Amino acid sequence: MKKVLVTGAFGQLAMCIKQAAPNFPDLDFTFVNRTELDVTDPATVRSYFSEHSFDVCINTAAYTNVEKAETEKEQAFAVNAAAVKTLAEVCKIHKTVLIHVSTDYVFDGTKTSPYIEQDATNPINVYGASKLAGEEELAAHCSRYFIIRTSWLYSEYGHNFFKTILRHANEGNPLTITTEQLGTPTNANNLAEAILLVATSESSAYGLYHYSNSGEASWYDFAKAILQESGQIETVNLAKTDHYRTFAKRPVYSILNSTKFCKAFKVDTINWRESLKTLFVENNNHK
Ligand SMILES: NC(=O)c1ccc[n+]([C@@H]2O[C@H](COP(=O)([O-])OP(=O)(O)OC[C@H]3O[C@@H](n4cnc5c(N)ncnc54)[C@H](OP(=O)(O)O)[C@@H]3O)[C@@H](O)[C@H]2O)c1
Repeated sequence: MKKVLVTGAFGQLAMCIKQAAPNFPDLDFTFVNRTELDVTDPATVRSYFSEHSFDVCINTAAYTNVEKAETEKEQAFAVNAAAVKTLAEVCKIHKTVLIHVSTDYVFDGTKTSPYIEQDATNPINVYGASKLAGEEELAAHCSRYFIIRTSWLYSEYGHNFFKTILRHANEGNPLTITTEQLGTPTNANNLAEAILLVATSESSAYGLYHYSNSGEASWYDFAKAILQESGQIETVNLAKTDHYRTFAKRPVYSILNSTKFCKAFKVDTINWRESLKTLFVENNNHK
């Protein structure tokens, strides 16, 4: 059995990994939250890895508030870059494979076709810059790693656009949603399964990969689909805008091409609209 450490245990993706874990009986999981393992504390990380041994570390711990990162640059870089360097160094020493999650926001959005792994990065906000710095630290300090860039994560866990739209709809609030950016909403449950496939595999095809659901949408398209699936499209006042002001700049186009990942790990990506449906079906079944 492979021993797998998952950092950031209370985060959205880690919760989805925990939910998917029973489908991977060959993996023996340890989940650690920020209190149990603060990844920004090098001494704690080093001693934790000296006391426990892991075959794989899945780093989901991250500073993910894109807006706040603009004014909390130091904190964003501490979690998204410096901590990744520490993990990379420690994983190298202990021969642990490091699976790290990154973002479509490493790109500036000037492309008009899906981004591939070799495309030039050029982050346009602090969050994207901190995540890119993390990728660079990782590549510089260990060799047995998988960086998986993903986009627009949502699920039944944590804070995300899907849950925000449902909350506003349930409160009867009118919604004005931007059409300005194009990306791919990605069900974090699908990403969790993809990451665990990597953890299970004996692949040594280390390096950088893109993985998202397939297809494209604006935030407005995504909001509309959520309301359609929840049966609220007729009752909620949904309007479009192309001037939604945010503090942080966001790439206008950030669709990822997942072909390299799909070939390497012999999986297909799921269309975002189809995957959104499954979340409603599964939640209804759990009620
Ligand atoms: N969410 C998206 O739309 C999106 C899109 C593309 C890529 N990603 C990437 O996907 C990954 C998972 O994102 P997510 O949506 O699961 O984020 P999330 O829900 O914000 O989870 C991140 C977790 O990391 C924890 N954390 C923060 N600082 C930490 C520290 N110093 N030590 C240990 N844990 C710490 C947070 O704890 P607290 O709750 O205590 O802060 C939180 O539980 C991240 O790498 C993110 O950059 C996300």
